[in-house]
Amino acid sequence: MFKSICAIAAGSLLLASATVQAASDKGTIVIKFAHVVADSTPKGQGALLFKKLTEERLGDKVKVEIYPNSTLYGDANELEALSNNEVQLLAPSLAKFEKYTKQLQVFDLPFLFDDLAAVNRFQKRAKGRQLLRSMEDHNIVGLAYWHNGMKQLSATKALRVPSDAAGLKFRIQPSTVLEAQFNSLGATPLVLPFADVFDALKSGKVQGAENPWSNIYSKQLHSVQPFITETNHGVLDYMLVSNPRFWYAIPHQIRMQLEGIIDEVTFEVNRQAEAANQADRERIAAAAGTQVIALNDEQRNAWRNAMQPVWQQFEGVIGADVMKAAQTVNRNKSN
Ligand code: SIN
Repeated sequence: MFKSICAIAAGSLLLASATVQAASDKGTIVIKFAHVVADSTPKGQGALLFKKLTEERLGDKVKVEIYPNSTLYGDANELEALSNNEVQLLAPSLAKFEKYTKQLQVFDLPFLFDDLAAVNRFQKRAKGRQLLRSMEDHNIVGLAYWHNGMKQLSATKALRVPSDAAGLKFRIQPSTVLEAQFNSLGATPLVLPFADVFDALKSGKVQGAENPWSNIYSKQLHSVQPFITETNHGVLDYMLVSNPRFWYAIPHQIRMQLEGIIDEVTFEVNRQAEAANQADRERIAAAAGTQVIALNDEQRNAWRNAMQPVWQQFEGVIGADVMKAAQTVNRNKSN
């Protein structure tokens, strides 16, 4: 009896180790890619395209698992999970890296970039590319910039001039630049994770927010925000990041293929983001119960004048060189 129990136990042990052996012989690299938005957004589509191209070209060498809508990790814990290698790819919005580098705060400065094309030029130039490497001391390597779009202000009341925002509470991402931006309007900023925005707006915990059209539409934020002002006052873009200990341990040949795929996906995401946001803008404008408010030049200048003093406040921490480089990319000033 004892002999047969021992034989069964030894057999199970052998089977278990054979399975582990087989799994490691197979050597499939698993890349978990977590993000906080819907599949239909520019980032969501980029993640899905990365999975598709990787699995088509690398077969069972690499498996990509996508976790959208904060289903695996959210704003509160995703960067920590990356550093612990519990997730291998993320694409947080640039505002969410403030803890790791102050330089990326340049992207949060209001009215710094005229449009997404200007943002694109900055990201492609030397200074923008340098920022991809600005968090390596914190075990974060930037692989690419992905666009979402320009941000719009939404609220429970019509925002036509800056003083309309005074006294309202706005949800913000964890960024001291965005905090200062809303303070400059006499409004109260409140940091909340993206996953909580809809409920916070619906319950009245906050009365306003700033988002690109795609995030507003995919989360149906317009159903709880009767007024959206087309301010285009800032940008919401992403950095695709990994943990360098994981990324540089991928066998060279495979990593080169993955980086090639990332370049292709980046091109597609960035080519389609503007159109995707415009399509969502049209859907929102057509929806009952939400008014899209367009600003004339004079009104938009009033918002710019109210928010722009924030630049000076942050020049010391962001760096004059970074800010200067960013200011050269607008159409009327670019080469
Ligand atoms: C995202 O687009 O990833 C979310 C941005 C936000 O937190 O507002």
